[in-house]
Parts: sequence; C-alpha cells; structure tokens
Amino acid sequence: MTNTNTIKLTSLSTKGGCGCKIGPADLAAVIRTLPPAVPNPDLLVGLDTSDDAGVYRLSDDLAIVQTVDFFTPIVDDPYSFGQIAAANAISDIYAMGGKPLTALNIVAFPIHTLDKEILADILRGAGDKLKEAGVTLVGGHSIDDKEPKFGLAVTGIVHPDKVRTNAGARHGDKLILTKPIGVGIMTTSIKRDLLTEEEIARVTNVMTTLNKTAAETMESYNVHACTDVTGFGLLGHATELAKGSNTGLRIYKEQVPILPRVRELAEAGAIPGGTKNNYAHIEKNVTFPETMDQIDQWILCDAVTSGGLLISVAGEEAESLLSDLQKAGVEAALIGGVTSENPGHIIVM
Ligand code: CO
Ligand code: CO
Ligand code: CO
Repeated sequence: MTNTNTIKLTSLSTKGGCGCKIGPADLAAVIRTLPPAVPNPDLLVGLDTSDDAGVYRLSDDLAIVQTVDFFTPIVDDPYSFGQIAAANAISDIYAMGGKPLTALNIVAFPIHTLDKEILADILRGAGDKLKEAGVTLVGGHSIDDKEPKFGLAVTGIVHPDKVRTNAGARHGDKLILTKPIGVGIMTTSIKRDLLTEEEIARVTNVMTTLNKTAAETMESYNVHACTDVTGFGLLGHATELAKGSNTGLRIYKEQVPILPRVRELAEAGAIPGGTKNNYAHIEKNVTFPETMDQIDQWILCDAVTSGGLLISVAGEEAESLLSDLQKAGVEAALIGGVTSENPGHIIVM
C-alpha cells in the first residue's frame, strides 16, 4: 500500500460501493431499441451471448479478443485501485481462453482539485499488474471529470477453435470457482469504515490477483465453458452460463467460498444496490433451499469486482483440475455441477 494521501478515494464516488455496472435487464432494454447489427461471419462472439469479451476472427488460426471495463474507486489506496482495475479488465480475456497482449488506459480524473500523485499511483498500480500479466500498454485516453474513474481496454488473441464461452457447459460437468465471493459487501464496508486493515488487505488481495494462473492451469483440461464472476455476482454469471449452454446448474451452498465476516457485514446492512438488483434479476431462474434466508441469497448474488473464473469442466477431470489449481496457489473450490434438466435454471442446495 502506498496511500500517503489523506483523501478517502472511495468517498468521491457518487454511486454504490461496487462501481456497479448497469443491470443486464436495463441494458437489454436499451439495446433492443437499436437497429440490429449487420451480421458478420468473422464475429465469433458478439453481443448476444452475454459473454465476457468479443471475439473476431482474423484468419483460420487467429482471432482477437477485445474487452473494456472501468469504474469508480472501490478501495482508498490509489495504487491498489489501479491494480484491481487492470486485473479486472484483463480477466475477461482469460475467461474467453485468450492470451492478453495489449492495453489502453481509460482515465477520468478531477485534475484541478485532486492531487496528481493519486493519478500517478493509480497508473503505476495498473502498469505493474500489466507487467505481471505480460501485457503491453499501448496508450490511453483521459478526461477531466468530477468523479475519478479508471479502467482499461484490453486486447488478446485466441485460436478460433479454442474460444471458451458461456455456451458449452454439458450434462455431467462440474463447476469450479477460483476466488472467494463477498467482494461487493466487503468493499461497501470499506466505504462505511467497518473493516480492519487486515480485512481491507485481504479483499484487496483477492481483487488484485490475476486470473492468469487459473486460466493457464485450465488450458490442458476439457473445459466446456468459462466466465468470470464480476458485476452480476456468482448467480448472475452462473445464470448466463446456464442459459448460454441450455443446461441446468446445481450450486452446493456449503462449498461456495465466502470471505470472512461477509454474513455479519451483510446483516449490518452493507449490501450494495447492485447486489440486490442482481438478486431481483435472477430470482425467477433460481430455486433456493427453503431454509436459506434472504441474506444468504443476497450473498450468492453479491456484485464482485475482479472475481474468479467459473469453470465448467468435464466431470471426470474436475478433481484433477481442482488439485492442480490449488497446488498452483489458486483459491479454487468445487461448487456445483451441470445437469440436462431445467435448462437455464439453477438449484441451490
Ligand atoms: Co467478465
Ligand atoms: Co468485464
Ligand atoms: Co467466456
């Protein structure tokens, strides 16, 4: 941590604590009003599958993967914020099975009222994460804005036959999640001064961890579908995977890794608006156990920033992939399975 400034960066955000994106229902309503895109056979993954990134074929053995993400500060330390923004943006390339290559910074900053050191720290944090990922910064764009925002557009490459989308999960697959959830509730708690230094460090570490190791480890396995868990929460992204693959999912609630004290903080009311929106959006697609209360249901929908990969792997390979991930230091857990019943539906058990 390098925050020598007294300013509480998260307090400059006018919105909820998770840098929330616009909900899928609201966005879909806007997109429906636009003329349909001109079909292009080289667009392998576009807008219609709610996937992590777009994939465009350049030749028979090469496609580019493109993604963009930016948000308001979710931690007070500017260097960490830069790291988180970079790890989060690059993640969508990993989730598609791609190798990230280049990045562009997207900066909104109140350059006349806020210490320029803060911006320098944000950019340094992002730069160090890009270096760790082997990604080259090629440029960027900045505007003067009351509310600081930062993110990146990232481009990667993938073989057109090796794209991992939401749409390939099969009956008998197992689901592996590679980071704990509860990030939205924890970061909302940072804004409310409810966390200890250790707790802030723990959730920051979850968010700054690249999905690189997880992605490289899954490469040699029969992974049928993959996404990363971010703004729409575990159940939101799981629903997209279930719908995209036309399968049902089972999530074993006891096996989902959750950051310490999340339940307690949620009970104290530290639940981001985005988390409740996520719940409202997926409620009809999920059957919760009768004994599960509203708080635990919200936790499974908690809006995540820079979350883990949700991997649908052939059932017989799941244990081996899980142990390889754990050996490589990834906080992976086996959290569910894929069924042919109830396509598009999730049963939490
Ligand atoms: Co994503
Ligand atoms: Co994204
Ligand atoms: Co994907």
